[in-house]
Amino acid sequence: ATTLGASAAERGGRYFGTAVAAYKLSDSVYTTILNREFNSVTPENEMKWDATEPSQNSFNYSSSDQIVNQARSRGAKVRGHALAWHSQQPGWAAGMEGTALRNAMINHVTQVATHFRGQIDSWDVVNEAFADGSGGGRRDSNLQRTGNDWIEVAFRTARAADPGAKLCYNDYNTDDWTHAKTKAVYRMVQDFKQRGVPIDCVGFQSHMNQQSPYPSNYRTTLSSFAALGVDVQITELDIQNATPAWYSGVVTDCLAVARCNGITVWGIRDSDSWRASQTPLLFDGSGNKKAAYNSVLTALNNG
Ligand code: G3I
Repeated sequence: ATTLGASAAERGGRYFGTAVAAYKLSDSVYTTILNREFNSVTPENEMKWDATEPSQNSFNYSSSDQIVNQARSRGAKVRGHALAWHSQQPGWAAGMEGTALRNAMINHVTQVATHFRGQIDSWDVVNEAFADGSGGGRRDSNLQRTGNDWIEVAFRTARAADPGAKLCYNDYNTDDWTHAKTKAVYRMVQDFKQRGVPIDCVGFQSHMNQQSPYPSNYRTTLSSFAALGVDVQITELDIQNATPAWYSGVVTDCLAVARCNGITVWGIRDSDSWRASQTPLLFDGSGNKKAAYNSVLTALNNG
């Protein structure tokens, strides 16, 4: 096929998505590309805790509803991002600890997942809960300090609120199978599957940095997680300098794993990127297709 979404759909019903910002939906260059190329969207900031619950138990869904309605009106999937995260907490939650924070987190997950019930394909239930470096432990945060079970509580709460949504754990720096952080997430997912904690998928953000070589064991990472009985997705893909060979490598590795059912790039044009100076995306600032776009499309169709 001739677009990213349609080409991915031909490969076993996969999707090709992008992060979307609500305030850009009035930009016709942006929406033309969005509607033509992408059959899944992830709100870049609009579903985060600070956006949806600016004061405790008072919820604001105006910009997140806008993105969800735009996507669903044209038959695109929505990945919800993110219910429980140490970052982007509203000030009232960032200052909380202990039982009060645990209860606030449970209420947040319940309210937001209930509001969007039936409209979300997959939720990033918990985002970035593991530490960087070689320790293989949890990240210290106010949520972690409420008790090690906070992650499974978030997943059980989300399942109760929206039983039809697939529930994912999402993190970065988990591409390399030999990395301690990757192994630590793997052991958590293995434990959740063994104990019946509801988890359906694992998201690999894949913010790739060319200071290191392309992770030759990336496919091993994806297939190892898939073998635990979860779907895997690439959820926030962007690559420093948008090197075409890296982009086609990611697509080819995903296509090689049956349970790798979707890829999302973290923005449309380079100018939309959180790391715009590294020109990491598939379209330039004017909305023209880059060489990386062509390598992705070719890999989707021939890989
Ligand atoms: O909306 C406010 C605006 O009112 C204010 O004037 C301005 C001043 O700084 O800030 C605006 O908010 C910014 C927001 O993006 C919207 O543009 C925040 O400061 C800024 O921190 C926020 O950055 C986002 C970042 O997450 C926050 O953690 C990026 O857009 C977003 O791309 C990035 O995405 C994360 C994923 O959620 C999780 N994985 C890593 C990824 C990249 O950091």
